[in-house]
Amino acid sequence: MKAKALKWLRIKRFLQMYRTHSCNDLRPEHEGKTVTLSGWVHRRRDHGDLIFIDLRDRHGLTQLTIDPSVNQEAHRIAEEIRNEYVLKVTGIVSKRPTKQENKSIQTGQIEVIVDHIQILNRSKTPPFEIDNPKDANEEIRLKYRYLDLRRERMKNNIIFRHRFIKRTRDLFDEKGFVEVETPILLKGTPEGSREFIVPARLYPGTFYVLPQSPQQLKQLLMVGGMDRYFQIARCFRDEDSRGDRQPEFTQLDMEMSFSSEEEIISINEDILKTLFKELCPEKEMLFDPFPRLSWHEAMSRFGSDKPDMRFDMELKDVSDLLSGSEFQVFTRAIKEGGLVKALCVPCESKFSRKEIDELTDTAKIYGAKGLAYIKLTDDGIISPISKFLSEKEIDSLIERMNAKTGDIIFFTADDFETACNALGKVRIACADRLQMRDKNKLACCWVIDFPLFEYSKEEGRLSSAHHPFTAPKDEHIDLLDSEPEKVLAKAYDIAMNGNEIGGGSIRIHSPEVQKKIFKVLGLNNDEIERRFGHMLEAFSYGAPPHGGIAWGLDRILMLLQDEENIREVIAFPKDSKAKDLMTGAPSPLPEESVKEMHIRSIADDI
Ligand code: AMO
Ligand code: AMP
Repeated sequence: MKAKALKWLRIKRFLQMYRTHSCNDLRPEHEGKTVTLSGWVHRRRDHGDLIFIDLRDRHGLTQLTIDPSVNQEAHRIAEEIRNEYVLKVTGIVSKRPTKQENKSIQTGQIEVIVDHIQILNRSKTPPFEIDNPKDANEEIRLKYRYLDLRRERMKNNIIFRHRFIKRTRDLFDEKGFVEVETPILLKGTPEGSREFIVPARLYPGTFYVLPQSPQQLKQLLMVGGMDRYFQIARCFRDEDSRGDRQPEFTQLDMEMSFSSEEEIISINEDILKTLFKELCPEKEMLFDPFPRLSWHEAMSRFGSDKPDMRFDMELKDVSDLLSGSEFQVFTRAIKEGGLVKALCVPCESKFSRKEIDELTDTAKIYGAKGLAYIKLTDDGIISPISKFLSEKEIDSLIERMNAKTGDIIFFTADDFETACNALGKVRIACADRLQMRDKNKLACCWVIDFPLFEYSKEEGRLSSAHHPFTAPKDEHIDLLDSEPEKVLAKAYDIAMNGNEIGGGSIRIHSPEVQKKIFKVLGLNNDEIERRFGHMLEAFSYGAPPHGGIAWGLDRILMLLQDEENIREVIAFPKDSKAKDLMTGAPSPLPEESVKEMHIRSIADDI
């Protein structure tokens, strides 16, 4: 009696179970087994007598066969089933005849002969086909993101993200780092962007600010003796969205005490290499160790502080060959302290006039006044500036640039940053056209020796190139008063395939130097006290020397998943105009809620 009761209990439990297996579990060795599966209808094919359904869950697909001679009621239900209905089915695993095997799915050698179907939920016809990766533009995909997540591409990206973050956590943990959560409701943290603010209901007229990064808190954790910190941290920046930017994004943020630049760089490089090797074994890592370039060298050779080193095509300074030329544009730039940079593109005479015009527009967008060029064709030189250049000058240029027939040499003449940066953008645009940016290759490099300050022409003042907590090089501290623009920082960025994937620095831990930096940045004593008093106060209680870095996790994931923009690796991103198309945020609040916050919307007055 007891045995019988137990058996019934087991059967009852089985009947109540939503699934005994996932849609990716069953193999020929399960033949004859009674199983229960739950999932979505991926595809349904009605062959009159037989109805076939591909049932899908996160793990995969299983073919169901519904045969009226097995169960008429199940067949009747299957007739009304449509794509994306949610089903629970019970049936027997059967091996498919060899000819009907489907090699493209892992369960392709079996099917489940269904004996019982329950419709758990119905679905409207989805706005795009889940099964067709090309269907639907991004707007529709973001509006119905929960449906987009059912597709292979997004599903794989999100699962990869989980695995990457999990392994990152483990690797930092193994090196003795402690993950600490830092607050989101905070005071401003300068990282160079606008901030999101939250009105404080309890204190009329006051606001919390969402952190642009945990920068100050991780430094305060070092003052707190935490020694080695990391966090998978959400950051908020109210800046214009782009392919590689989101208003909220995720950093791997880390900080350590009593460490040199060398140690910080080497720990991060080790962990990144392990992650790439373990999680993307199919990618070719071009450099090990990652090369290190000074900011000046990166700008000079690649025209970028985040160089794409998957291909060569380096910029060269040709000012010495052209200083006596008749082309005023070149000689003027040189005389004014600038230079002429050149780039030789092996395009096999493929670039049309229109393409050269487009490249000229690219250079102009980035501040160049033009983009001179020399085309080396079978019929000789074609160039809008050849009339100004002597044969000797042209020959020496061809020699310096190692140019051959079919190549084009491009030139920008300007101050160092403009000439390099504009030609660097032309370099990338040419590489895109010539398909030189191979997604299967990973080229990482460190960019070091950044200037501490940038001069903003519009604002007519200096601002921090990174953030104001970055330490100047010891040997440059004396220059802070006299020539601040010459001061180099103990800062380092990491670039991968032409993207800045991380940045950090050794921090100032002396209250006096920190105060001095604030002063150079134009802050008066009141502002310093109001905005950063807590930091200076903390530094006066024995702050250890410390430094760290933050990786842009979304950017790294985008590159590893061969995606063109970071929205593809974020489950619920904002669109390119910072809107959440799914929930409609940002949206107006009811009058009472606004009042309660002691604020007034003046949007209607504008
Ligand atoms: P930084 O401002 O350089 O440094 O940020 C670190 C990295 O974060 C990524 N990133 C972004 N990713 C997506 N959307 C954005 N809007 C966005 N902004 C930045 C980039 C960048 O390299 N507190 C310092 C780090 C430190 O000094 O330790 C910081 O936040 O990949
Ligand atoms: P122009 O004499 O202005 O017609 O210019 C002749 C060529 O020189 C054109 O191809 C321009 O794009 C190019 N050019 C003009 N200014 C610059 C500059 N500062 N650097 C490089 N090329 C330039």
